[in-house]
Amino acid sequence: MKRIVLVGFMGAGKSTVGPLLAEHLGWRFVDIDPRIEAAAGLSVAELFAERGEDFFRGEERRVAQELAAEEGLVVATGGGAFANALTRAVLKRNAIVVWLQCDFETVLGRIPPDGSRPLAANRERMRSLFAERESSYRLADVIVDANAGDPGEVARRIAKAVSGAGAAEDVDR
Ligand code: S3P
Repeated sequence: MKRIVLVGFMGAGKSTVGPLLAEHLGWRFVDIDPRIEAAAGLSVAELFAERGEDFFRGEERRVAQELAAEEGLVVATGGGAFANALTRAVLKRNAIVVWLQCDFETVLGRIPPDGSRPLAANRERMRSLFAERESSYRLADVIVDANAGDPGEVARRIAKAVSGAGAAEDVDR
């Protein structure tokens, strides 16, 4: 295992828990979305508005490919990355993929209506995306309940789960 890749819906806590997990393991942390923003010089919202979602998805795959050559890394993905079959295949290489599973009510309460997440602007669209993506997230190696507990606790839950992992398992459900 060379990388841990955190997947899950917007608001699952990937970017918050990721650095804590990396610190716990003595690994580095990389968040894919800020890398895309830095490369483009535009925010995610600006990228969606000015270049379109397809461009953004291509950038997600490009950064995932860059990271596939690195070791000792915890990677936070954007909520749509693992739902894309091509990007998913890249993310899975030499990695343990962890789904931070949350209920819809949990993510709703965590996502501010500040326009920073274009696909969360419309709550009905968000609900259908949530339902559509579940079958993709299930393809993760490990599922961790991320509904409750502070981020440090969720990070410890993941560390415990992946230490015995390699195969899919449910943790603390
Ligand atoms: C998206 C999730 C966002 C970001 C973009 C698209 C999605 O990341 O990549 O707004 O398709 O679910 P977070 O999951 O970090 O919010």
